[in-house]
Amino acid sequence: MAKNNGLQPRERDPASRQKIELANRNIEQVREYFNSARINIDYSIIKYDGTGKTFIVTSGLQGEGKTFCSVNLARSFGSIHENKVIILGCDLHAPKLHRYLNIPNKPGLTDILSNKNTFSESCIYNQKENFYVMPSGTRVPNPSVFLSGKLFQSFLKKLGEQFDYIIIDTPPVLQITDASSFATHTDGVVIVARASQSTKPALKLTIETLEKAQATILGVILNDVDFTKQDYGYGYAYNYRYGE
Ligand SMILES: Nc1ncnc2c1ncn2[C@@H]1O[C@H](COP(=O)(O)OP(=O)(O)OP(=O)(O)O)[C@@H](O)[C@H]1O
Ligand SMILES: [Mg+2]
Repeated sequence: MAKNNGLQPRERDPASRQKIELANRNIEQVREYFNSARINIDYSIIKYDGTGKTFIVTSGLQGEGKTFCSVNLARSFGSIHENKVIILGCDLHAPKLHRYLNIPNKPGLTDILSNKNTFSESCIYNQKENFYVMPSGTRVPNPSVFLSGKLFQSFLKKLGEQFDYIIIDTPPVLQITDASSFATHTDGVVIVARASQSTKPALKLTIETLEKAQATILGVILNDVDFTKQDYGYGYAYNYRYGE
């Protein structure tokens, strides 16, 4: 019998083949769920002035998937060819958006807001997936102050004139007030809850905090559901209202 010198193709382990099939199915499934979230978000925001739809993606605590969901929503909105989409890295405290997209973190948002860089220098067009990315930019000593002022508000307004969808990745609302402070200058908030991690009391408190800040809650994305568990649904609670 010929020896396998490591270069011969080996019979694929059936378990690993199963894993690959499951992973591929998950990618398709994830794409499908974000497409349905995209449609729901789009219908939840009604605008009459023809400007772009601006929404925040947030959650109560760290690591629940805000950036993951923001990027996947940008992909989904970008998959519609005629859409002009931008995702903003507004977590200036612990920026990670750039890592997801494998781009430098600066120049970015803070640099354009402080007039150090131009718009085209501060954002990158992801041609393959048809969306623009503006990372958070050079670290600033006072991130919350940076995003709570009139400068940021008028910047969002200007983006609304140039883009159809502006997706804002933010820090966790129960730990940092940024998203609550500028929520009313956007068309609404999408809350992310992580199936294996988020607790009901924390989610309730997140909703209460955003409602206190007069934010329009567009819905909740239940993230990272174990697809192998049949009894789980994954998805987007359309137009979620606290108490309903
Ligand atoms: N649905 C998912 N499937 C697999 N991995 C996920 C999923 N959602 C999030 N993750 C992973 O979990 C980690 C935390 O996710 P993410 O960075 O999106 O959370 P976050 O809420 O933005 O965190 P932070 O508050 O620190 O910014 C990342 O490594 C991310 O890749
Ligand atoms: Mg994040």
